[in-house]
Amino acid sequence: MSDTVIKVENLSKKYVLSHQQEEYRYKALRDVMADGAKSLFSKIQNPKSKIQNPSREEFWALENVSFEIKQGDRVGIIGRNGAGKSTLLKILSRIVEPTKGSIEIQGRVASLLEVGTGFHPELSGRENIYLNGAILGMSREEIKRKFDEIVDFAEIEKFLDTPVKRYSSGMYVRLAFAVAAHLEPEILIVDEVLAVGDVQFQKKCLGKMEDVAKEGRTVIFVSHNLGTVQALCSRGVLLRQGTVVADGTVDVAVNTYLQNLEQASFQNLLKRTDRQGKGHVRLSQIGISTGGSYPSTILATGFPAVFTFHITGILSGLSCCFTIYDQYGQPVTYFDSAVHSQEDMINPQQETKFICKIDELLLMPGRYRINAAIMGNGEFQDDVKGAALFDVEQGNLRGRPANPTVGYGNVCIHHRWIVPA
Ligand SMILES: Nc1ncnc2c1ncn2[C@@H]1O[C@H](COP(=O)(O)OP(=O)(O)O)[C@@H](O)[C@H]1O
Ligand SMILES: [Mg+2]
Repeated sequence: MSDTVIKVENLSKKYVLSHQQEEYRYKALRDVMADGAKSLFSKIQNPKSKIQNPSREEFWALENVSFEIKQGDRVGIIGRNGAGKSTLLKILSRIVEPTKGSIEIQGRVASLLEVGTGFHPELSGRENIYLNGAILGMSREEIKRKFDEIVDFAEIEKFLDTPVKRYSSGMYVRLAFAVAAHLEPEILIVDEVLAVGDVQFQKKCLGKMEDVAKEGRTVIFVSHNLGTVQALCSRGVLLRQGTVVADGTVDVAVNTYLQNLEQASFQNLLKRTDRQGKGHVRLSQIGISTGGSYPSTILATGFPAVFTFHITGILSGLSCCFTIYDQYGQPVTYFDSAVHSQEDMINPQQETKFICKIDELLLMPGRYRINAAIMGNGEFQDDVKGAALFDVEQGNLRGRPANPTVGYGNVCIHHRWIVPA
């Protein structure tokens, strides 16, 4: 078992939700250690603090998670929002302490976590590169040798001596990834913050991660983009509400996840707890039909489609937006009622719903899902990932059959050919 580099047994993480929640902030190693000492101290001082403070709500973000990762494994961690993916990565990176369980790690870990972890905001890009290298146990000479490569990769040369708190989130992520990937860690951990960067940079990062993996290093990767996870990872771990529900090949994990999403979309929306937003107004139901006098629930390419978003109330400045994703988690298109057109109108019956009408559905046959969100009072009121699922059947676009060809995209466009005689 000498090639096991990470061994996690019955790992559990409890968060105590009080009025003053600790926000994500920079934590240096010494803060983590100080926190550990503090919590140990409070346990000694007040071993029954939990019972004496019943107003606090306890929440298990991870429960009894066990797995082993071998040297050179490329592991994708997937699961819905709030499943515990980031918490797991933070524990593996020693930024968060587990409440229970044990974790053994062999080798230097470098991680790219949420923006705000890992870098000291007051220090410049240059200083943070050295700080991170030092935390990884590298000598100044070693870091110096890698320095130009990092700066080059991150494309932040001009801002090297600017405190990173002045960086845009894109710049921040670029530097953080460059540091994590170039400081020759034995284990590279990347959370989905990569999605913050532009598409070009994402591609560059994925290429770099492939290189790292090819060198036999271990990569642990979280992404909502299932296609990317499948391309990069060989193994997949699916988390649901803090527990492992699948651990196997990446295809098995992704397929289990898609089946779970499917089941969730048949659930009453108001029963879904994996949602975000203020909650003064919530999505209660999503109707999908072809509209018309005999509405059918099965959509077809080139035919009308009507998406109806029922909500629980009215607020000022309400708007509704949704994104359609293909079955691999790639976004296909986005709709936003706050971006107006002269064709929009106000519901004459004053019903509490948004209706989005599409005359010609330009999606190729296949399975799609929707992330939907409601804005109101200038804030996100509700945000549900995988809020609905629908199938598009084969239809035709103005008489031309829409034949799905796997790998050639999800969209069809009305067009005319002029061909030689
Ligand atoms: N610092 C924290 N305090 C309280 N709850 C937290 C904290 N960090 C995460 N959580 C909660 O733990 C759960 C898992 O979060 P997270 O690991 O970020 O999930 P994921 O990355 O899969 O979306 C969520 O319900 C989240 O709200
Ligand atoms: Mg996360």
